[in-house]
Amino acid sequence: MIAPHGGNLINRVVEGGERESLLAKAASLPALTLNSRETSDFEMIATGAMSPLEGFMGEADYHGVVENMHLASGLAWPLPVVLAAKDGESAVAGSEYALKGEDGTILGVIAVDSVYSPDKKNELVKCYQGDEDHPAWGYLASIGDTYIGGQITMANLPAYEKHNDFRLTPVQTRAAFAEKGWNSIVAFQTRNPIHRAHEYLTKVALEQTDGLLIHPLVGDTKADDIPSDTRMECYHALLNKYYPLDRTMLGVYPQAMRYGGPREAILHALCRQNYGCTHIIIGRDHAGVGSYYGTFDAQQIFNQFPDGEILIETLLFEHAFYCKLTGGMASTKSSPATKDQKVFLSGTKGREMLANGVRPPAEFTRPEVADILIASYAQPAQA
Ligand code: ADX
Repeated sequence: MIAPHGGNLINRVVEGGERESLLAKAASLPALTLNSRETSDFEMIATGAMSPLEGFMGEADYHGVVENMHLASGLAWPLPVVLAAKDGESAVAGSEYALKGEDGTILGVIAVDSVYSPDKKNELVKCYQGDEDHPAWGYLASIGDTYIGGQITMANLPAYEKHNDFRLTPVQTRAAFAEKGWNSIVAFQTRNPIHRAHEYLTKVALEQTDGLLIHPLVGDTKADDIPSDTRMECYHALLNKYYPLDRTMLGVYPQAMRYGGPREAILHALCRQNYGCTHIIIGRDHAGVGSYYGTFDAQQIFNQFPDGEILIETLLFEHAFYCKLTGGMASTKSSPATKDQKVFLSGTKGREMLANGVRPPAEFTRPEVADILIASYAQPAQA
């Protein structure tokens, strides 16, 4: 089994008597509130999905990560994982605070060791190559101006209404892979329904590996991304008909989308390594948004890390399309098709068709997926 990033699978979850004492202590501590992104980060840190992180980043880690993609310990890490003070909240280094969710439930405790003022504009430029129109700024501008770092301990997993049967921790995915006897496992990160191009990448990857973990991101996404429950419906329909179920697993990835392109590809990779995956698919404009990143920047960034620094391997893909010339899915690497022989559909055009109740071409989306999307467009907008 592949080692977690940094060598140890972090476990900051307490149970039984230890949990009872932590909850009793938390009740008497001043509290800090986690927003929804921080709640998913908290859960991922506690369960080891973000190993080697043991808490929200302090100032030294934050600077190392923003400036050169490394933690103070020297381990590679591409993006800040931080807790921001909310209105009326303050914290001092050396003290403990209860951490509660937005619904007021106590989730755990943080031992604060760093309180600092980030340069958010610098974070935006260095991490996201962004400007004020980038979704990262939408988030950064919305949170407080003080970051609070320190080791966390989790007493309660955040409660979710959705996808609970698919919320597997790294310990659980690793156990499942071992039980299935899979040695090489490829992760597929996605924030979209699986269209034919996505399916093609996963199938090519499956030809070379023992198993496939379809690992859709279900944390916060932009308002115009398709909600996770609609996507899950699409994944079920597709998997049940078109995938070898003995070689495919579906689990959800609780993280919020950062739209960080290349740096987020590294984050997606390291976390999937922690879940026990040996490979991750990185295609065109992975985790991209607008035209902030070059089409293959998220592939090339891995070359900046010397061999052995990131253990999970990337399976890289050119832009995939349905090829009328060869009569199958292909990319420029495998087909000499001319532009006219490639079936491409822009996201805008696809959305327009679905909103009008029209199935996009079967070469673009399987009809079973198209029908679910059409039905979801016909529903009143979801909160
Ligand atoms: S992402 O934000 O999660 O990267 P998306 O769900 O669209 O977005 O993509 C999932 C993965 O499939 C990413 O690795 C992305 O690069 C890849 N991908 C999506 N569409 C294509 C395509 N037509 N050709 C090659 N790779 C693609």
